Amino acid sequence: MTEKIQETFIAEYGRDAQWLARAPGRVNLIGDHTDYNEGFVLPMAIDAETRIAAALNGTSRITLRSTAATDAVQIDLQQSLSVGPKGFWGNYPTGVLAGFQEAGWNVQGFDALIDTTIPVGGGLSSSAALEVAFATLLESVCGIPMDAQQKVSVCRRAEHHYAQVPCGIMDQYICTLGRRNQVLLLDCRSESAEWIEWADPAVSLLIINSGVRHTLAGGEYAQRRRQCTAAAALLGLRSLRAARMEDLNRNEVPMDDWMRRRARHVISENARTVQAARLLRERDWSAMGQLMYQSHRSLQQDFEVSCAELDAVVEIAQDIGESGGLYGCRMTGGGFGGCAVALVDVAASEPIARTISARYLARVGRPATLMMSRPAAGAGMIALADQCVT
Ligand code: GLA
Repeated sequence: MTEKIQETFIAEYGRDAQWLARAPGRVNLIGDHTDYNEGFVLPMAIDAETRIAAALNGTSRITLRSTAATDAVQIDLQQSLSVGPKGFWGNYPTGVLAGFQEAGWNVQGFDALIDTTIPVGGGLSSSAALEVAFATLLESVCGIPMDAQQKVSVCRRAEHHYAQVPCGIMDQYICTLGRRNQVLLLDCRSESAEWIEWADPAVSLLIINSGVRHTLAGGEYAQRRRQCTAAAALLGLRSLRAARMEDLNRNEVPMDDWMRRRARHVISENARTVQAARLLRERDWSAMGQLMYQSHRSLQQDFEVSCAELDAVVEIAQDIGESGGLYGCRMTGGGFGGCAVALVDVAASEPIARTISARYLARVGRPATLMMSRPAAGAGMIALADQCVT
C-alpha cells in the first residue's frame, strides 16, 4: 500500500511525497451506544487503515485528492472555512483543519492524497480514521505533536460540526491511541482508559461486513442520542450512566415503553461491557461470547439499531456455535448496517469464514466481506525511504 500511494502521489502531483500519515479503523467488541451516555466501551483498532501522503506546495492552498473520489477538494487558507453538504468527504479534513486553526496552529499549503483499505460506510470508523490521519498529518506539516487528548477532541468536534454527526468519543479515541494486541476499556465519563492485553493467539476476531452501507448522518443515530438524553432527564439524571434498572421500574416515572427499552439497553450494555473486560482478561471466551449475543439482542430489540442482514449473520454464527469454534457474535458500531464481529478459534477460522460466506449469500442474496483482525496500533507517521520523519 505504501508504494502504491507514493506512486499515485507522484502521478497526481508530479513530485515525491514528504510525509505519509496513517490511522486505523476500529471495531467495538461490546458496548455500543453507550459512549454518548457516559458509559463504557471496549474497542480495538484494526488492521485496515487510511493513509495520507502529502508534500508542501508553497502556496496558501491545500489540495486534497482521494483514490476513492474523482473530484479534488481545495481549501484556501486565506478564507474562512465552510461546511460542505451533508455526506461530503471534504467535511472531515476541513473540520479537523478548523480545529487546528482555532487552537492557533499555523498550517501552510500542501498537496495530499488519501487512500484507504477501510470500507467506507462499513461501520469500521472510516470517518474517524480520515479525521485522525489528517490530524496526524497536520502535526507533521506544522512540525509539532498535538496533545493526544486534544487531538481526539479536535477530531470529534470535526465530526459534530462539519460531518454533523453527534458521535461519542469512542472512534476518535481508539483510532488515535489504539495499541497493538491490546483492547481498550474506556470509561467515557472520566475518559480513563484501561488497556487489556489480548494475549491468547488461539482466539481472534472475525469481522463480517454485511455490505449494507450504514450512514450515521441519516438522522437515526442523532435521534437515538436525543432519546437517551430525554430518558435520563425523566429519571432526573445527567446521563443514563448513572441509571439503574430499579429506576426504570419505578411507577412514578412516566416513561413510554420504547423509551424504557432504550434506557434498558444502555444500562444492561454498560454492565455487560465491564463484565466482558474481566472475561477478556481471564480468557473466558465462552462466557464472553454469550455476552456478545446478549448485546446483539439488546441492540436489536431494545435499541432497534440492527437490521435483517446483521441479524442473519448473528443467527448463522449461533448455528455454527462453540462446537464449530465460534464463541459469540454481535453487530458492532452504530448499526443500521455495517459490520458484525465474531469471536473465533483461529484454527477453525477458515471453515467458519466459508460457512458464513455461503450461508449469508444464500439467505441475503449478496456476498458478505470477511476479514480477521488482531488489535492494531493507533495513528502515526510512516517513514518514507531516505527520509527522517518528524
Ligand atoms: C458510532 C459513533 C460512536 C458510537 C457508536 C455506537 O460509531 O461514532 O461514537 O456511539 O456509533 O457505539
